[in-house]
Amino acid sequence: MGTPTLIEVEDAEQFGAVVADYFSESIQQVSNKPTVVLPTGFTPLPFYKEVVERYQNGESYLNKFKYLALDEYLGLPEGDHRLFASWLSREILSPLSILNEDRIIFDSATSDTEGECARIEKAIEEKGRIDLAIIGLGSNGHIGFNEPGSHQDSKTRKIKLTLETREANSEYWGSLEDVPTHAMTLGIGTLKKAKKTLLMVLGKHKARILKDTLSKPVCVDIPSTYLQNQEHVTIIGDRDAFSEME
Ligand code: GLP
Repeated sequence: MGTPTLIEVEDAEQFGAVVADYFSESIQQVSNKPTVVLPTGFTPLPFYKEVVERYQNGESYLNKFKYLALDEYLGLPEGDHRLFASWLSREILSPLSILNEDRIIFDSATSDTEGECARIEKAIEEKGRIDLAIIGLGSNGHIGFNEPGSHQDSKTRKIKLTLETREANSEYWGSLEDVPTHAMTLGIGTLKKAKKTLLMVLGKHKARILKDTLSKPVCVDIPSTYLQNQEHVTIIGDRDAFSEME
């Protein structure tokens, strides 16, 4: 069992810089191209902005990684702006010129979700490891789209999204109707293969679930509690996010 390293920052700008430092050190520690999981959401945006700026200012090593998708909506057509693959492409992957062959992404439009999820698992197996999993935290403790009820050894699979998660996601796209009902996600068991994990948390609305993540017994009702048993976990958050921790 590992004890997470907690890093508290002042604000979003400092958050972006501190997460970018962690990312930059982590990818430089791995000699052959590391596999890195990156999440969507509002939380990582200051970090992506900072990494893109550093890259454009000459830190060219910042694109020496292979991107592994954390999750994806199910049933959206190619090119849809809501695709997480498109979102990540806009915010970080295209500005860093990450090649398509270095992007392991879900096919949202697949008619064979089982086969698609098995393909992602196989890609991870062939690589042999996930070097770094950078993840966000859902208000109900979901990681990726591992909703409450997700087993600690769950694999990459199709998920029915909870109403709570769909409502939270509607902030990205404007209305609940714009949020698909199903998704695919790396499993908790899959994420446990990560050699290092960084959890990013911003805001008062995440304070309670962050506290529960670290203090409640490890359980399927709060998928994020798996982090208590994970080695090499770092949590970077702002003062508001850490405000309920003793
Ligand atoms: C979404 C994503 C997660 C993300 C989480 C938090 O549902 N599937 O990967 O980490 O919600 O998002 P936000 O950073 O916008 O709070």
